Amino acid sequence: MLGIAVRTPSWRPPAHRRDGRVFARERSSLSMGKASTETVRATFRPLGACAANRAPESMAPSKWRAMRTTQTGSAGASLLRAAVVGTGDISRQHLAFLAASPLARLVGVCDLSPIARRWTAEEYGTTPYSSLDEMLEHAQPDVVHVLTPPSTHIGLARAALAAGAHVICEKPITLNADELVTLLDEAEQLGRVVVENHNYRFNPEIQRIDRLLADDLLGRVGEIEIRIGLPVTDPGGRFGDPNLPSPIHQLPAGVIHDFLTHMAYLVGHFGPRVTWERVSSIWSKHSAAAHIPVDDLDAVLAGSGPAGPVHARIRFSALLAPDCFEITVRGTNGFVQAELFSGRVTEIVGQPGGKQLGPIVNMMRDGVHQFIGGPRSLKRKVLQQGPYAGLATCLELTYRALAAGSPTPVTPEDMLAASRLIDRLVAGRHLEEESA
Ligand SMILES: NC(=O)c1ccc[n+]([C@@H]2O[C@H](COP(=O)([O-])OP(=O)(O)OC[C@H]3O[C@@H](n4cnc5c(N)ncnc54)[C@H](O)[C@@H]3O)[C@@H](O)[C@H]2O)c1
Repeated sequence: MLGIAVRTPSWRPPAHRRDGRVFARERSSLSMGKASTETVRATFRPLGACAANRAPESMAPSKWRAMRTTQTGSAGASLLRAAVVGTGDISRQHLAFLAASPLARLVGVCDLSPIARRWTAEEYGTTPYSSLDEMLEHAQPDVVHVLTPPSTHIGLARAALAAGAHVICEKPITLNADELVTLLDEAEQLGRVVVENHNYRFNPEIQRIDRLLADDLLGRVGEIEIRIGLPVTDPGGRFGDPNLPSPIHQLPAGVIHDFLTHMAYLVGHFGPRVTWERVSSIWSKHSAAAHIPVDDLDAVLAGSGPAGPVHARIRFSALLAPDCFEITVRGTNGFVQAELFSGRVTEIVGQPGGKQLGPIVNMMRDGVHQFIGGPRSLKRKVLQQGPYAGLATCLELTYRALAAGSPTPVTPEDMLAASRLIDRLVAGRHLEEESA
């Protein structure tokens, strides 16, 4: 049984993100670097009170009524009919959630591969479909999980929306921010919701940082660093094998692009109201692998938030070991460093004792944390709780929001901010190519 780390049924954004968090939709021309952005404050209406409970124009009311027939899960909450398109690697995490959740009922899976869809359907006791259209027509899902390669996301998501379903989509939800604006507009017109999976934002280590910020133990955030180290060029790995070319290599920034969403939304999470005035990225290729155009990113960002300047760094390396996914948040009163693969968290915060005794108190506290962290890390290993701990939480909160008609934990603003930052990072790569 999957452990779902949610304590309260209603979710609120962490305190450092709360104020000023209006559900504004930004419509802009979105041409790269163009500053003319018209902000349209279209209130993000709760589903229960808006068009979400009306039949989309493209659908016969009888079909809509059949689809909306209320069912109740064992927890008493509204049970949503869920379907999955794409039964590859990441689908295991989504399906494990759906199999265990009292909020959802799996009504179908679909994959281009007959073996993949049949195996998954048998494993999870549902119906296999060979195309999304067929699944939408027969299974009539309330929610479609789009878990296919990135270039297919927008087409599949639009088809699901047109059939009246909400969409939970894997990252990167679209290939650029222009596409995302189109998709969000379409969802709004149909009264449906689109959510990109920002799973790491809900990992316990990130929630620990949220609590330190909420308790004002770090002071004002002035620096954010996100670092991923993964051997993506390793010929034995899923991206490095030249004989098994992954569709991920077709992304504008190749395999690193696949990780940019996580890095961009974490920067946005800890710098929610920061305007990044300068974004500069250095893209490199250190490996000889011909099918991998870039394997290293070093980006620096400088911006300003409501309370002062903020700097950030986004770093991806394929060469250094061990594997890591590190987040450092530095404030005017201390810093915290979390490593999501191992669960290690180091906190150095302002302590009673001031500059004399403070460092000793911090060192002793950290020693106790690391001592407790060892067995905890072993427990994670034994229970095979990988770094996807936040995914179930993200899905749980999203399903609760969809059932309640309240705002989802990952908002259109979160998705747009991440997507725009990715566009700017990738633009740096194109500039480098042009000047080479
Ligand atoms: N959130 C995370 O931490 C995380 C981790 C891994 C992957 N992902 C993302 O999840 C997505 C899928 O990645 P994956 O590793 O599971 O890929 P995968 O290659 O293992 O699986 C993709 C599946 O989609 C199927 N497919 C492709 N096009 C289809 C279509 N049009 N209709 C139906 N099925 C189709 C393929 O046959 C394949 O089985 C990617 O966007 C990836 O970036 C996210």
